Amino acid sequence: MKKTLILETAHLLLSKHITKDDIVVDATMGNGYDTLYLASLAKKVYAFDIQKQALIETKKKLDEQNIKHVELILDTHEKINQYVSNYKGVVFNLGYLPNADKSITTTKESTLNAINQILPNLKTNGFILLVIYIGHEQGKIESKAIQDYIKTLDPTLYKIAKIELPYQNNQPPYIIFIQKEKDEG
Ligand SMILES: C[S@@+](CC[C@H](N)C(=O)[O-])C[C@H]1O[C@@H](n2cnc3c(N)ncnc32)[C@H](O)[C@@H]1O
Repeated sequence: MKKTLILETAHLLLSKHITKDDIVVDATMGNGYDTLYLASLAKKVYAFDIQKQALIETKKKLDEQNIKHVELILDTHEKINQYVSNYKGVVFNLGYLPNADKSITTTKESTLNAINQILPNLKTNGFILLVIYIGHEQGKIESKAIQDYIKTLDPTLYKIAKIELPYQNNQPPYIIFIQKEKDEG
């Protein structure tokens, strides 16, 4: 698959922050492209999706490349802390599964609920990376809710970057990168 500029940028950022000692989470597995990329960087990857089709697609790709250090979980990313601990970072590529039911999409409720549970568990330099799509109605609602939410975060605890494509005129996706400055525990 040819990567879009925003996904290429997201992956570049991930490559700078993930090492072979890290456990990372793909919160929205979809067709598995991000999961496979994360697997090339990390010691262990856990990937979540609420659609069985996503697990089938991703497992096929993992099997083709004989990749074993990835665990696929058919559940909402809101339950992340029930399945995984000690993660360095979590990636959300929001929206719906391409070429599938567009009504099954991430929502502001599930995404914010998950982020709320992840942030206190991040260690120093731990991160959440979100790719946010505003080209569909649910995405616009989700984008606004995330923007409002991140304004409430303590700036002494989190550094937040926003990466956009301001010269593209078709409502392109953008990246939010939240990095923990210091451990709370
Ligand atoms: C844009 S796709 C992800 C693309 C994927 N990262 C890739 O590389 O192909 C978004 C995915 O999020 C999933 N999703 C929606 N709500 C979810 C939830 N609460 N927990 C986990 N996955 C969810 C959808 O089923 C969909 O497959």
